[in-house]
Amino acid sequence: MMTGEQQVIPDEDEGIDDLSTVASSTVSIRSSIMQYPVEHGRQYHAYKDGVYTRPNDDAELDRLDLMHAMMYILYDGKLHLAPIHNSHRVLDVGAGSGIWCIDFADIYASAEILGVDLSANLPTFVPPNVRFEVDDLEDDWTFAYPFDYIHSRYMAGSIKDWPRLMQQCFENIRPGGWVEFQDFDIDYYSQDGSLSKTHAMRRWLDIAYGAEENTQRSLRPGPKIEGWVRDAGFTNVQVVKNVLPLGTWPKDPKLKMIGRYNWIQLYEGLQAMSLRLFTRFLGWAPEDVEMLLLEVRKDLRDPKIHAMFDHYTVWGQRPAAAQ
Ligand SMILES: C[S@@+](CC[C@H](N)C(=O)[O-])C[C@H]1O[C@@H](n2cnc3c(N)ncnc32)[C@H](O)[C@@H]1O
Repeated sequence: MMTGEQQVIPDEDEGIDDLSTVASSTVSIRSSIMQYPVEHGRQYHAYKDGVYTRPNDDAELDRLDLMHAMMYILYDGKLHLAPIHNSHRVLDVGAGSGIWCIDFADIYASAEILGVDLSANLPTFVPPNVRFEVDDLEDDWTFAYPFDYIHSRYMAGSIKDWPRLMQQCFENIRPGGWVEFQDFDIDYYSQDGSLSKTHAMRRWLDIAYGAEENTQRSLRPGPKIEGWVRDAGFTNVQVVKNVLPLGTWPKDPKLKMIGRYNWIQLYEGLQAMSLRLFTRFLGWAPEDVEMLLLEVRKDLRDPKIHAMFDHYTVWGQRPAAAQ
């Protein structure tokens, strides 16, 4: 695929044959990309060390799986909103725990799904039509074949150059193929004034935004995705915006359930989202991060705070006539 080291799992002779030609550069399994560094008790990716600020340990993978379950509820069991039929070659951008690839592969047995991530987070057993590679998706893509569908979810805080990512998607989708981005605007607010600027939840966010100036990886790509997708040349662009509550305060049973999942992922994931970000990029001591997180968790436990944030799903098609 791109420059740099790669790991492809399962073995090349298992499962998909033609995806083995998707990678144009040599597939090399280097132990260095599996030697995950541990910082302040959390484990991180090794390939392109430091590019991504959240851990890749079991606790974080559990959180990603929980968010997958939350999205499953939000979209009534649909893994995508783009009108894809018989997609053969599928790319998942930043595959995380691999759970989306695996679920997609189970439903679309004739599809070949390639998940790419900085870490090899895959479980032991994956369907034969799923394949993973370790690589940096911000490097130049050199896939040998175009994809029918490219999926990207929850890359907020991961991507430095979104327009370039979109352009690479466009160039690597066959004419008539689809792209889909599902992502967040990580900006907590309330509609009833119950969350104010002085709450630790808001202070924590403002500090995270400050760190973001150093990482240059936005926590708020959601509202900009439609424009980027259009600018890249995709047509038939559609957008769905959802509000995701934090907590069980909504009356609507579906939103209540989403709020429950969302609350747990944030409550359990605060450390993952802050520790490296604040220590490496703002110079905080880990103890100071933990002190702030105690206050944020206190806010999260306060039933009077009705917080929420926005989620965007955007899909578009490469024009059939495009070369
Ligand atoms: C928040 S997780 C989302 C995982 C998955 N898309 C999901 O929805 O569950 C972001 C993932 O992107 C990966 N990632 C971040 N930057 C990347 C990059 N430049 N190239 C490839 N993967 C990257 C991280 O390792 C992490 O697994």
